[in-house]
Amino acid sequence: MLDFKCSDRMKTLKPSTIREMLKYTSDPTVISLAGGNPSADLFPAKELHEAAKDVLENSAAVALQYGITEGYPPLIKLIRERHKTKYGIDTPGDEILITHGGQQVIDLATKCLVNEGDTVISENPSFIGALNTFRSFRANIVGIPMDYEGMRIDLLEKALKTEKNVKLIYTIPTFQNPMGVTMSGERRKRLYELAVQYNIPVIEDSPYFELSYSGPPVTPIKAMDTTGHIIYAGSFSKVISPGIRLGYAIAPAELIAKMTVAKQGEDVCTNQFFMVAIAKYLEKYSLDEHIQECISAYRKKRDYMLECIDKYFDKRVAHTEPGGGLFIWCDLPEGCSGTELWKFALERKVACVPGATFDVKADPSNRGFRLNFSLPTMEEIDNGCRIMGECLKEFLNKKD
Ligand SMILES: Cc1ncc(COP(=O)(O)O)c(C=O)c1O
Repeated sequence: MLDFKCSDRMKTLKPSTIREMLKYTSDPTVISLAGGNPSADLFPAKELHEAAKDVLENSAAVALQYGITEGYPPLIKLIRERHKTKYGIDTPGDEILITHGGQQVIDLATKCLVNEGDTVISENPSFIGALNTFRSFRANIVGIPMDYEGMRIDLLEKALKTEKNVKLIYTIPTFQNPMGVTMSGERRKRLYELAVQYNIPVIEDSPYFELSYSGPPVTPIKAMDTTGHIIYAGSFSKVISPGIRLGYAIAPAELIAKMTVAKQGEDVCTNQFFMVAIAKYLEKYSLDEHIQECISAYRKKRDYMLECIDKYFDKRVAHTEPGGGLFIWCDLPEGCSGTELWKFALERKVACVPGATFDVKADPSNRGFRLNFSLPTMEEIDNGCRIMGECLKEFLNKKD
């Protein structure tokens, strides 16, 4: 047997608790509030079937061939138009790179900007996929605490004054994963000012941006960017399907050129078939109408989960009230660990994700836990929250 020696870069990576949890959630008696996927009921399968058929009948020579690394030009054009008209993000030149999901934008930007030992500043808690990317590049990750208005910008400013070799700031300002919170307009403005003042690029990771349930979407930070400091990571995963693996970076052309070279060493080009099929889909159907369907389905589930939390959870447990996205975050009282609660709840057949999973230092004493409302049915939301409420009561009483 090969006695392989793992690279140093892989030693620091944390296995995803979420993947580990699939072991438990495949048990049909466990109610899972732990997932993070969009609901399969909302995939536009019929429309994608039509688009795929059209592609294979009429554009097979292009769709089944290698494509240019930047991405399929008609899809780039559609992304450009959508972002200009809807969100005020202007990309007149070569500022767009199509990728295999938003995850690859994070990977390529980090590869281009961060050397081993450099500092990446991230919200804490944050998306584990991004944290693992920073770990794989052997970055020093500095976590900035979040509150229910997003990243604490006062603490970001403090960190920028004291930390050495900061090469990147990572934020999910809209409907954050895992907390579901949205950075206020004032904080967005201040974050951008600080990025310019300290001359540090920012990844604005925004896969949930268009899933807005309580009014029109906020303005992306990228829309105020006149200096090229913001690297926008967009994705079709949550509004069309994650299986198609399509995302995109919007950044200054010089950085996009570097990320394009970096991408050539990873996968040559993004899946050409799906780029052509999604371009057809976007030309023929209304993505906005489809997003509205997703919004009404998810809004109902969000509202119901919030109702159930209010009905069943101990009032000592704080929770966010997300304006969009897929997640609600709960905070246990001081001195209680989300990891302990997670184990306790799993034994009683309800699954959440412990806050430690998203913690920059993977700290098991993190008081938070994440709940997802896109995957469970209404009945599962009710039963899951009821059982979780009983667990919380027992768990907190034991701590008293
Ligand atoms: C905050 C955040 N960023 C990026 C991603 C990756 O998404 P994609 O499927 O576009 O790679 C996810 C997926 O869950 C996410 O939650």
